[in-house]
Order: sequence, then C-alpha cells, then structure tokens
Amino acid sequence: LFLFKFPRRIWLGALGALLIVVAAAWSIGQIENARTEERLLAALPFDVVKHPDLVRFAAEQGAPLYAKHCAACHGADMQGNTRIGAPKLTDSIWLYGDGSVFTIERSILYGIRSSAPKSLDITEMPAFGQRGILTSGEIENMVQYMLQLSHQPFNAAAAAQAPALYYSSATSCFDCHAGDARGNSDYGASDLTAGVWNWGGTEQDLYDSIYYGRHGIMPAWLGTLTLEQIRALSVYIYSRSHPAEASVAETPTATGGGK
Ligand code: HEC
Ligand code: HEC
Repeated sequence: LFLFKFPRRIWLGALGALLIVVAAAWSIGQIENARTEERLLAALPFDVVKHPDLVRFAAEQGAPLYAKHCAACHGADMQGNTRIGAPKLTDSIWLYGDGSVFTIERSILYGIRSSAPKSLDITEMPAFGQRGILTSGEIENMVQYMLQLSHQPFNAAAAAQAPALYYSSATSCFDCHAGDARGNSDYGASDLTAGVWNWGGTEQDLYDSIYYGRHGIMPAWLGTLTLEQIRALSVYIYSRSHPAEASVAETPTATGGGK
C-alpha cells in the first residue's frame, strides 16, 4: 500500500530496473555456463578430471542426460541389466578400455556393435552349444570352471575337465578371454575372474552365455547427443566409477584455496 504513495511512473521504473538486473545476472550465468562447457570440451580427456569445477559441472549436466538416455538400459542407479547384458557402470570392471574418460567416451560416441561407423565391433561371444562345438556336458563342466575362476563354490571334479577345453584350438576361449581369464579390453571380452557377470552369474546364466553366445549392443550417441553432452556424460560416469577421486574433486583442496 505504501508503494502507491509514489507516482506510478517511479515504481514502474524501479520494477524495470529490477528486471534488467535479473536479466543481466541470468545472462552472466549463461555466459559462465557456456564458458565452462567450452573448457570441458577443450580439455584433454586425461586432464579433465583434475579440475574439480569441470567435474562438478559435468555431473550437473550429465545426471539428467543419463536419466533420459541411458537409465532404461543401464538402470537408474547405473547397476546394469543382466537381461540385455548392460554393464554396471560404477565398478572398476570394464569390457572396453581402462575406465578412463577417454575410453568411456569412445564407447558412448561410437557404441558397441552399433553398426555405426567406428563402432567397437571386433569380436563376440560364440554360441558354442548351438554351433555344436561343445556338448551340454562340456558346457556344464565349463560352468563349474567359471565358478572356480571367479572364486565361488564349484564342483571340483567337473571343473577339472574344463581347462583342456579352455586352452584348446576348438574353443579358443583363451584367445579372447586371455590365458589368465582376465579378459581383453581391446576386444571387449569379459573378465571371467572378477565375479562381475554382465549376463548374470547363476549356473543357468553362465550355461546360456556359453551355449547361445552373447551379442550385447550399445547404441552410438554421436549424432543424437552433442559432443558437449557426451563429454559431460563421460566425465560423470568416470566420477561415479572413481568415487575416491571424485570426492577429492568435490572438496576444495585440503591445503586451502584453489589452484
Ligand atoms: C571370439 C572371442 C571369444 C571367444 C573364443 C570366447 N569368448 Fe566368451 N565372450 C567374448 C565376448 C566379446 C564376450 C562379451 C559378450 C557381450 O557382452 O556381448 C564374452 C562373454 C562371455 C561370458 C559372459 C560374461 C558376462 O559378463 O556375463 C562368458 C561366461 C564367457 N564369455 C565364457 C567363454 C568361454 C567359457 C569360452 C570358451 C568356451 C569363451 N567365452 C570363448 C568373446 C569370446
Ligand atoms: C539399448 C540399451 C543401451 C542404452 C540406451 C545405453 N547403453 Fe551403454 N551399453 C549397453 C550394452 C548392452 C553395453 C555392453 C555391450 C557389450 O556387450 O559389449 C553397453 C556398454 C556401455 C559402456 C561400456 C562399458 C564397459 O564396460 O566398457 C558405456 C561406458 C556405456 N554403455 C555408457 C552408456 C551411456 C552413457 C548411455 C547413455 C547415453 C548408454 N550407455 C546407453 C546398452 C545400452
């Protein structure tokens, strides 16, 4: 009511000035965001994670993108989905590469068996049962060997039959999954010792993996998402799978003050 003691012109003017201030603050915020986005994209993948402000920014941008485009397959909590072989993204076990921003980004850009140019598509898990390379009994023995390799309870007599097959030229398991069974992250061949099973770890799941083979498909995102969005997602996933480093990134340095 007090306001109305002033002429209309004055308080309209004041309102106008206030709007200008708000608009200016908003556009400064927009410019700041655009600058951070540019820095996020320009930084070398190996270097990004050393900049806490970029990691924070990437997480803010990446979380809603993840919910919209990735959660349907990898789960709202990034815990994966064994029905379609979508890996958990918060652990340190990677099909492709070493879990660096660079290799995470490559998977997102080009996809896996996505039929996009540059897709990661070197090899796949053969259907040993269906193709008649292994009998059901041999696969059952192999399942026990998988349990042994991944430090779970196993049938020793059955598992003992399997290494001769694992290292045979008929199966070439060793060729893709490596002599020590720890997988090959150039081929996207799973680590068989970690107890992390993208397609499920029950005896039935393991049997099915070997009998029917597996053919996980990850879409390519280049063309659907911008490079900035893909970078934000890569750094976001990196920070979720490297919580120790990410928490360093979130807390300003203990020695006080930024760099
Ligand atoms: C030509 C390469 C190749 C050969 C040979 C091969 N694998 Fe695989 N294997 C793969 C790839 C690639 C994957 C990942 C498949 C995917 O996720 O789509 C895989 C996945 C698996 C899985 C499922 C892993 C998970 O996370 O659920 C098991 C179990 C497995 N292989 C066991 C074997 C055994 C046992 C043999 C030998 C009888 C064998 N593989 C031979 C390439 C190979
Ligand atoms: C249609 C289902 C689907 C969608 C949607 C999807 N993914 Fe995937 N993703 C997969 C599958 C399946 C694999 C494993 C492919 C294989 O077996 O090799 C995978 C693999 C990956 C990998 C490699 C993991 C590793 O262990 O090396 C990353 C990183 C990844 N996805 C991130 C994403 C991100 C980020 C998004 C959203 C932009 C996304 N995915 C959307 C199904 C999906």
